[in-house]
Amino acid sequence: MNIHKSDLLILGAGLAGLRAAISAKETDKNLKIAIVSKLYFLRSHSVSAEGGTAAVLYEGDSYDLHAYDTIKGSDYLADQDAVERFVRTMPNEILYLDHWGMPWSRRDDGKIAQRPFGGHSFPRATYAADRTGFHALHTLYERLLFYDNIEKYQEYFATSIIIDNGKFNALTAINMKTGEYEIFQARVLLIATGGLGRLYPFTTYSHTVTGDGAAMALRAGMPLEDMEFIQFHPTGLVPSGILITEGARGEGGYLLNKNGERFMKNYAPQKIELAPRDVVSRSIMWEIQAQRGFEGPWGPYVLLDLRHLGDEKIKERLPAIRDLAMKFNGIDPSKEPIPVRPAAHYTMGGIQVDIDGMSPIPGIFAAGEAACVSIHGANRLGSNSTAECLAYGDITGVSIAKYLQRASDIPELNMDKVKKEENRIYKEPFKERGTESVASLRKELQNTMQEKVGIFRNEKDLTDALNKVKELQKRFENVYVEDKNMFYNMNLITYLELSNLLEVAEVVILGAIARKESRGAHYRVDYPKRDDVNWMKHTIALKKDGKVELSYIPVRVTKWQPEERKY
Ligand code: FUM
Repeated sequence: MNIHKSDLLILGAGLAGLRAAISAKETDKNLKIAIVSKLYFLRSHSVSAEGGTAAVLYEGDSYDLHAYDTIKGSDYLADQDAVERFVRTMPNEILYLDHWGMPWSRRDDGKIAQRPFGGHSFPRATYAADRTGFHALHTLYERLLFYDNIEKYQEYFATSIIIDNGKFNALTAINMKTGEYEIFQARVLLIATGGLGRLYPFTTYSHTVTGDGAAMALRAGMPLEDMEFIQFHPTGLVPSGILITEGARGEGGYLLNKNGERFMKNYAPQKIELAPRDVVSRSIMWEIQAQRGFEGPWGPYVLLDLRHLGDEKIKERLPAIRDLAMKFNGIDPSKEPIPVRPAAHYTMGGIQVDIDGMSPIPGIFAAGEAACVSIHGANRLGSNSTAECLAYGDITGVSIAKYLQRASDIPELNMDKVKKEENRIYKEPFKERGTESVASLRKELQNTMQEKVGIFRNEKDLTDALNKVKELQKRFENVYVEDKNMFYNMNLITYLELSNLLEVAEVVILGAIARKESRGAHYRVDYPKRDDVNWMKHTIALKKDGKVELSYIPVRVTKWQPEERKY
């Protein structure tokens, strides 16, 4: 059995993971770092981020304004000290990337360009056309190559986080190329595995985003925070769900119903199409419910109209979505509007961490979408995600390097736990004892989440969904991995991913059932008002003896008291 040892082990190679590696190295160049990903690093889901990265760069904007927009957008569930630190860290992140070669779009005067984004009261989304994530990830990867002593483990599927004596002990993984079981030990683990959007069938997420980090953390006894808050992006391309960036509305695009009305004027008279995502997504669904949407073979939709922007601007600012609309729908956006509907897009919750990125387990940190700091509270503003990955990648990288100055050596490997995990992942799935398939269970899970744990929620649907997930967890015991080959056994990998999705689905639903109010992306039709007296608090989910238990912790307020959200 291969056992790899390092000072810092980073699980996940998206923006947060790579930024943290760079930052840790810049703080202490002697660190030995290992980065593990189930993908080739440049295929991490960050690569598909499109529209922009929020930062205060110019006169007229301010840290307080960015913080206020973020906190109001979060429906007052964000921790305000974390938000203040985030907005202050961001401007330098934009400049670091610039110095490392990021091709930011430019204004006519040569300065870095910014565009409007939903819920922001200043055009502060810094962008590289509509391929911001693609360029940012490549820029960080190139920068990473500058440092020695960083081992890259690509196409390794991590299966469990082992905690021993209350501290990080090891990470277990399958080397996907060989099928072999390999062990990673380090003095510190950073989890940067992204979200869990493949819980839903209509989603902007890559197929690979299956909540692996959250599920492993849960199984290891780590706390997850605010998992009930799932963001739906207003403009998923119908029928594929591919992201059509909010940058399209930032550049002036309209949303139209079947009567040709810019219906957002009725829901958000000031911001119109540039209200935050929870507001715009609900408004689209209300239009559809009122029979003012279009009906198509792949379900209802509304239109995103960019025709008035003109061909030249679309080609310059929005080339990727033009390409997507043409390739996937045969539509030239300068001539025809694009069919869109809200799609699962972001996980506001994640592994509970403090303001330095450290989880309650010594030696384990988390950053990016996998973590809950919490900057986004109940609803994230567009362009604050790539921003968080950079800012909190950086902050967490520095705090890890400092923590390592006083951290103890790598502990003795807990072989009992390593063997137990080996049994779970190599013996259980290969037993020939059932007729259930990964694909059919996953489809049932995704359809349940879409229908009953979506934009509009109520007690009965949520309870039905919980019962269904419990039934699927039971039936999962009968899922059988047919492919016995160990080289690139994707049947085994999708089996393990489904088991992760089933675990985190339960946490999302339990949090949603318990939260008897509407806040941000969590909209309960049976409790349609926000309730600050009883519910201005974070949900914490912990698994004990196989059972998920919920508790609550207060929101940290610095200077912004909750007020009515009007846009
Ligand atoms: O619409 C977008 O380009 C998405 C940005 C984000 O989620 O921050």
